[in-house]
Amino acid sequence: MTDWDLGSLPYYNPRKNRKVALVTGGNSGIGWYTVLHLYMHGFAVYVAGRNANRVSRALKDIKKEAKARIQKLDPGERHPVGELKFLSLDLTQLTTVEKAAKTFRSLETTLDVLINNAGVMALPYSITEDDFEIQLQTNYVAHFLLTMLLLPSVERCRGRIISVSSIGHNLEVQYFSLSQSFNYWPNILFTWLRYAMAKTASIQFAKMLAIKHPNVLCMSVHPGLVMKTNLFSYWTRLPIVGIFFWFFFQLVGFFLGVSNEQGSVATLRAALSTQFEREWDNGKYLTTGGRESKPSYVANNLDHATSTWLWTIHELRDRGFDI
Ligand SMILES: NC(=O)c1ccc[n+]([C@@H]2O[C@H](COP(=O)([O-])OP(=O)(O)OC[C@H]3O[C@@H](n4cnc5c(N)ncnc54)[C@H](OP(=O)(O)O)[C@@H]3O)[C@@H](O)[C@H]2O)c1
Repeated sequence: MTDWDLGSLPYYNPRKNRKVALVTGGNSGIGWYTVLHLYMHGFAVYVAGRNANRVSRALKDIKKEAKARIQKLDPGERHPVGELKFLSLDLTQLTTVEKAAKTFRSLETTLDVLINNAGVMALPYSITEDDFEIQLQTNYVAHFLLTMLLLPSVERCRGRIISVSSIGHNLEVQYFSLSQSFNYWPNILFTWLRYAMAKTASIQFAKMLAIKHPNVLCMSVHPGLVMKTNLFSYWTRLPIVGIFFWFFFQLVGFFLGVSNEQGSVATLRAALSTQFEREWDNGKYLTTGGRESKPSYVANNLDHATSTWLWTIHELRDRGFDI
């Protein structure tokens, strides 16, 4: 299944069948194209992001791009598009996540597709105001909280939940409890382990959700190596050595990479394809283009997944979140 054409995915006419999606980090990179295609497939898309200006600019550009693409289609193939809305949330501040979920629930009764896409990669060690390591909170813990708060809306319409993970999860070659924060020197090595642990946890989360909530289709994806997004900007903006990292990432992209739009295909197939069904595909992991794949041993092991689940529930409850 590595056909990049998304034309076979179902279209929902918003005038007859309202479908709602929420995408975190939909203002840039892979998320931008994920939002574009959901919008063109008729969805009302809530784009959850931390910077209102950046998100508004993205929504304007997405509308423009959709219009241009539709104009190129034959008149018979032109459909009404959905809606685009901004939802304010900063994943490094859990109170804003709780507030975003509350706002969403006050506006919509159902959520057909939740895409936990936003992420950061290989940042220096730092702790958020909620006392989690920054990569762990942004990539995993905040999405866990958001998902649990929105779960009733997803269950109401038997929707789907997609976790955008990464092939980088394989760097966690043995299971470590998430309470181990690996704040060791050199950061250039240990930051990758922290990223891998957060992305492993995202896969485990999808697996556990699939078991605990079988009426929802939950999947995790690796989007592909997509080197033209902002994910690498911490490294490419470093003084002096940044240029070498930039060159390295460009090289990887040239030989192994896919475009930003192709990077959205795995997520979109998981979110929309009628080939996937709750009974057979729940908890599965897809890779570039939407091909079914097997995550690492650590991510696949259900005992480890259960430990990760319990750890997260306790940590969030200790901070006063009612989940
Ligand atoms: N690119 C790749 O090769 C690759 C490979 C494997 C997995 N992935 C995963 O794919 C996902 C999308 O990444 P991308 O490559 O498209 O990178 P990107 O262009 O940097 O997009 C990341 C998005 O996450 C948002 N975000 C980051 N921190 C946030 C926070 N605290 N609160 C709210 N939103 C936040 C960003 O918002 P701002 O614009 O406000 O920063 C941005 O919209 C990530 O989960 C990443 O780990 C990417």
